[in-house]
Amino acid sequence: MSASANVNPYIPYRVKIDTITIENDERDLKTFRLVFCDKTDQAKFAHSCGQFAMLSIAGTGEIPIGIASSPLDKGYVEFTVKRYPTGLVSSALHEMTEGDIIGLRGPLGNSFPLAAMTGKNILIIGGGFAFTTLRATIRYLLDPAIRPQYKDITILYGARSPGELLYKTELDSWQKRTDVKTCVTVDKGDPAWKGRVGLVPMVLKELAPSSLDACCLLCGPPIMLKFTMPPLMELGFAPDSILTSLERKMSCGIGKCGRCNVGNKYVCKDGPVFPYAQIREFEEKGL
Ligand SMILES: Cc1cc2nc3c(=O)[nH]c(=O)nc-3n(C[C@H](O)[C@H](O)[C@H](O)COP(=O)(O)OP(=O)(O)OC[C@H]3O[C@@H](n4cnc5c(N)ncnc54)[C@H](O)[C@@H]3O)c2cc1C
Ligand code: FES
Repeated sequence: MSASANVNPYIPYRVKIDTITIENDERDLKTFRLVFCDKTDQAKFAHSCGQFAMLSIAGTGEIPIGIASSPLDKGYVEFTVKRYPTGLVSSALHEMTEGDIIGLRGPLGNSFPLAAMTGKNILIIGGGFAFTTLRATIRYLLDPAIRPQYKDITILYGARSPGELLYKTELDSWQKRTDVKTCVTVDKGDPAWKGRVGLVPMVLKELAPSSLDACCLLCGPPIMLKFTMPPLMELGFAPDSILTSLERKMSCGIGKCGRCNVGNKYVCKDGPVFPYAQIREFEEKGL
């Protein structure tokens, strides 16, 4: 089965759920650490930051999910999945336990153009559970072998409440580092929360990071993206220096079925990462 996975892009790798981490108070966001049943498949699955993969459960279906682990994390791949009460595959996945076997197809799509950003300042803005592929990117950028290739790195991450923040241990460790500025904010605090309270666009205005020689990676719910663009523009970020990731319903994930197109682009193949300049074009054409 694994040998043919190389040849036929529809055949998934067999992977075992190694660990499951419940990320939030609502318990509807879980991070699945997957290990390849056939160790030779691990090397074939070489991904870049921003890519996604298809997770499949036999007899139930297949869903696209962003890759949450860094390309430098060896021996496993991680995905953080939200369970929708009426969502077939996400609910089935949340019912699974460590040791269960699922399918993994990919890596798919394009990625953040990190090589073209070397020597630049990087601003990373994430909201809600769309933070997953940004987490992969941050893990990668903060690796001791990679960090010196970039100038200032600033992270702004927001969630609805403290209990909805993902990757809490990692957030703490990033906040302790002096080579990255990490700002975590929540829409509404609770009695134990000592951190910042405020919506991402408002906190961005307060932080006012320089747009000079800078790129911005931005992922979040549509409402956050809508209200974050104007302050980014005011700070001087050009539309082609802002990279964001689109979500569309998908089937094949490899540009064959036409399910995910926006105009003449396939989100699964030409995306999911697009410069904001391109997204603005889609919007202007009503796509
Ligand atoms: C490139 C890409 C990357 C993605 N990365 C992630 C990720 O990292 N983590 C993650 O959890 N999800 C991610 N998604 C979204 C994920 O693919 C869907 O949530 C998933 O397909 C739901 O499948 P399902 O079978 O559970 O739901 P379905 O059975 O297909 O849907 C049933 C119902 O669930 C609800 N629902 C399903 N999906 C969504 C949605 N996205 N938003 C709101 N309501 C929804 C709707 O009410 C829908 O009618 C990504 C999508 C894309 C295209
Ligand atoms: S999902 Fe089939 S073309 Fe994109």
